[in-house]
Amino acid sequence: MSTQRSPPPASAHPHIAAFHDPQTGTVSYVLADPATRQAAIVDPVLDFDLKSGHTATTQADRILSHLAEQALTVQWILETHAHADHLSAARYLQERVGGRIAIGEHIREVQAVFRKLYNLGRDFLPDGRQFDHLFQDGETFAIGELSAQALAVPGHTPACLAYRVGDAVFVGDTMFMPDVGTARADFPGGDAATLYRSIRRLLALPPETRLFVCHDYPPGSRAPAWETTVAEQRARNLHVHDGVSEAQYVALRTARDAQLEVPALILPSIQVNIRAGHLPPAEDNGVSYLKIPLNALGRS
Ligand SMILES: [Fe+2]
Repeated sequence: MSTQRSPPPASAHPHIAAFHDPQTGTVSYVLADPATRQAAIVDPVLDFDLKSGHTATTQADRILSHLAEQALTVQWILETHAHADHLSAARYLQERVGGRIAIGEHIREVQAVFRKLYNLGRDFLPDGRQFDHLFQDGETFAIGELSAQALAVPGHTPACLAYRVGDAVFVGDTMFMPDVGTARADFPGGDAATLYRSIRRLLALPPETRLFVCHDYPPGSRAPAWETTVAEQRARNLHVHDGVSEAQYVALRTARDAQLEVPALILPSIQVNIRAGHLPPAEDNGVSYLKIPLNALGRS
């Protein structure tokens, strides 16, 4: 690994498999270097049933099957951010296939905010140690012989990253498909103007760059989709096509966010995801519990 700032060559074409989770609208990915069969997993989902409190590994096991079928070795498990809509399967997958779990260095800020909300004790330190690696903006790393780069794209959360690998970018929660628009910017540490600038950064990449979104919430008229391009986004993204100014975007995003409900799984998800996919430590009966802070979310 190096911390050089030069972008990876756009000529490389990683092999990319997508795993769409219809329950949460999340899309997880396995990207692989065809030459070495080294791979990275992006944003894996641990199924969670809120009513029963049961986790399941249906989605993660699809990824394990793919890894086995393709004879891939996992080097990295990459999180674009601490998701608020699903629990991460990073830990479950690491226990089975290895790989280093990584996220952006600003996860520390997110951990500090939610440590306070959940009133976590001394067993949870907001210093990122739960992850194997914290990426800085621009940091490059290898997946087999492919060169990859972490790009800070804050706005949805302060720790959001996009991952650029060859001609592909995993954009996390910045843009969605062009007909859906962009991610919300009203979570703790979120900011619409910052998100706009992050999106413009991604849209400055070559027009043919392939963009892979983290979620799809398709309108009723089409099936779920997750791959688009810089050119398509610049031409027809509902919120940030070329010509939309920062001020226009901030007004639109702020008005829209005021109408959005809190995600159904935000409280269960965040307390697992800031632990890099570990469930909270089991109590003396061997059972792990999630906390639900009452009348506290949104108060800082
Ligand atoms: Fe998100």
